[in-house]
Amino acid sequence: MLSGTSIQEDAAALKAIAEWLNRQTGIFYPERKLDTLKHKLFKVCLDNRMSLHELHDLLQNGNGNTGGLALQIVAAASTNHTAFFREDIWGSFREEILPDALNRNGRVRIWSAAASSGEEAYTIAMVAAELIGATEAGRRLAILGTDISFRTLKTAEDAVYPKDRLKNIPESYVQRYFTRLPGREEVRINDCLRSMCLFRRLNLKKRPYPFKNRFGIIFCRNVLYYFAQEERERIVNALYDFAEPGGWLIVSVTESLGSMKTRWKRVAGKTGIYRKL
Ligand SMILES: C[S@@+](CC[C@H](N)C(=O)[O-])C[C@H]1O[C@@H](n2cnc3c(N)ncnc32)[C@H](O)[C@@H]1O
Repeated sequence: MLSGTSIQEDAAALKAIAEWLNRQTGIFYPERKLDTLKHKLFKVCLDNRMSLHELHDLLQNGNGNTGGLALQIVAAASTNHTAFFREDIWGSFREEILPDALNRNGRVRIWSAAASSGEEAYTIAMVAAELIGATEAGRRLAILGTDISFRTLKTAEDAVYPKDRLKNIPESYVQRYFTRLPGREEVRINDCLRSMCLFRRLNLKKRPYPFKNRFGIIFCRNVLYYFAQEERERIVNALYDFAEPGGWLIVSVTESLGSMKTRWKRVAGKTGIYRKL
């Protein structure tokens, strides 16, 4: 790539980086997708003025000085795309899932397990504030957003988004829950929602997860496809252990637990919604 390493050396390094990525994070690039990974790593190579071969060398033999590089590789290899009110599950969340969790518990713990830049966690907070009022929601809900990427978690904590991200959000919600930042094409989430949400780094592949208490509702959407089948199954079952009896799991409408050995029960007539019954 940038220096004089051969095509074969770079191809071998790419494969080795893919294996490293899979071991460290569970993110899985099969052979047929290695070209995609190569494209994603191109900027890391440029920024560090290294070939893929050199990148892999440093990753292996960096004597512990590779933390920054490792984070750059993980950030480049993962897709952080997300959105407020992403996918068609919010009607079920408002009408069935959240009311059930509120009925079962005085305080409802909700986990957004691949939170990216926080849009999912803040959507949960918005729906809850609309359902029971922002003050009551602040008193009764604790929303934890976790992700492997520090960069996206920083955005989640800052809670500042470009204005064009508001397009899925009803105007009345925008009025209530966002503040326009003067002179900028950006908005900030209001404190009434921010105070319900906490963001922390967590690698879904590193278990056991460090929680003392269980969750009433777990969102784990658009991340399972990163992992190979066995790893998906392990993650989904680890989530099960951290759900309360009667608790809910919400995966993406495009992901299914159908072929997995798991005790999660699919909710009849709903796509992507499961329960611990
Ligand atoms: C496509 S985004 C999904 C965001 C949100 N859940 C949604 O559905 O809109 C996937 C997120 O998973 C995160 N991720 C990838 N591997 C992970 C891992 N091993 N542990 C935790 N998060 C991971 C990525 O950093 C990224 O932010």
